[in-house]
Amino acid sequence: MNITPFQARRANLLSRMDAGLAIIPTAPEKLRNRDTHYGYRADSYFHYLTGFPEPEAVLLLIAGDTPRSLLFCRDKDVEREIWDGFRYGPAGACEAFGMNEAFSISEFDGKLAELLADQPALWYSLGHDPAWDTRISSALNAVRAQSRSGRRAPAALLDIRSVLDEMRLIKDGHEIATMQRAAAISAGAHCRAMRAVAPGCFEYELEAELLHEFRRHGSQAPAYGSIVAAGANACVLHYVGNDKAIADGDLILIDAGCELDGYASDITRCFPANGRFSGPQADIYNLVLAAQDAAVAAIRPGATFQQPHDAAVRVLAQGMIDLKLLGGSLDGVLESEAYKRFYMHRTSHWLGIDVHDAGEYKEGEDWRALEAGMMLTVEPGCYVRPADDVPGAFWNIGVRIEDDALVTPAGCELITRDVPVAIADIEALMRART
Ligand code: GLY
Ligand code: MN
Ligand code: MN
Repeated sequence: MNITPFQARRANLLSRMDAGLAIIPTAPEKLRNRDTHYGYRADSYFHYLTGFPEPEAVLLLIAGDTPRSLLFCRDKDVEREIWDGFRYGPAGACEAFGMNEAFSISEFDGKLAELLADQPALWYSLGHDPAWDTRISSALNAVRAQSRSGRRAPAALLDIRSVLDEMRLIKDGHEIATMQRAAAISAGAHCRAMRAVAPGCFEYELEAELLHEFRRHGSQAPAYGSIVAAGANACVLHYVGNDKAIADGDLILIDAGCELDGYASDITRCFPANGRFSGPQADIYNLVLAAQDAAVAAIRPGATFQQPHDAAVRVLAQGMIDLKLLGGSLDGVLESEAYKRFYMHRTSHWLGIDVHDAGEYKEGEDWRALEAGMMLTVEPGCYVRPADDVPGAFWNIGVRIEDDALVTPAGCELITRDVPVAIADIEALMRART
């Protein structure tokens, strides 16, 4: 593993902290049932700063004139390694992950009380994990108990997330390269599902195609639960059943992306089970695609986070009027927000280590300005549920088109376009499958 990016992030954080001690624990292992665990995934902040993959580990950062990175981790244990596999141990981890020092996790509580003494500030994510909150309160109380020896507990408790979230918003070269690889794998998975579909197959068979493609390219897991929604199911925004038979004539919505080396991708495509969009399906699809084009055109440094959403909404609202989903004027529909009946979610979110990534969307009252190096999704949609006042031809059509955009100095780059998006290109890919 190339540890340079992780070292650079720690150095950056240490200089932003200025003074004090930061505690960044990794995630605990979680029981799924009886003695079986969920697949392990490191805490996102811990991963960002260390790349260290084992559970039961904590990073301590000490800012000041000689900034230091300390790792606490599991001991080497030959007996356990026979059962569960390799462990770095403190000495191995110190070397492999470029720490100043590393210790056994069994020494953590004692050393923490020692290291906290006389620090001006404690940087920590209070409330993230109650077990850790208790442990750290105990260490603070242990320092306070020594006040007659002249030792002082930190006067300031600061939220480390306030600094880390800002750092995570601007992706470095290592992150962009990883996300581009994740995006390419996910795009390949969507192509595979388009090739595999046939009327009569089940939604979960397409989910299996996605998972196969993710894993065979080294992705560790899906970045979120894959949505494979045929026909009316596409109008359920967070559909997770994935267990229905796909009918001839269904339009299928797949929202799925892999996680690769800790980074998410997030793609949505819609395609017809029989390989040909019907007229009404094409009408809704092309409207959503035009809205996405408008949103993409609005992404550039200096534009606000809200501008792509406004651009998408404007196109969607006019299209809903043209297709007679809504009556009235464009200004009226925008003003009353009547479009929300068919487009009820936002157009973008930050993307990174978390699929809905860290980072504020506003600065004070204002939507924040986009900057080169930010990564966001562009995912307008239109979902038509049956109703007496809605043309029957559009009932149960649900469309979302989602790509991942890297903000560049000139505008943005869509990193997920290895999967086709225009109707002609999707139909051509599906025609070529046999
Ligand atoms: N797949 C989650 C989202 O699109 O936000
Ligand atoms: Mn998304
Ligand atoms: Mn998505």
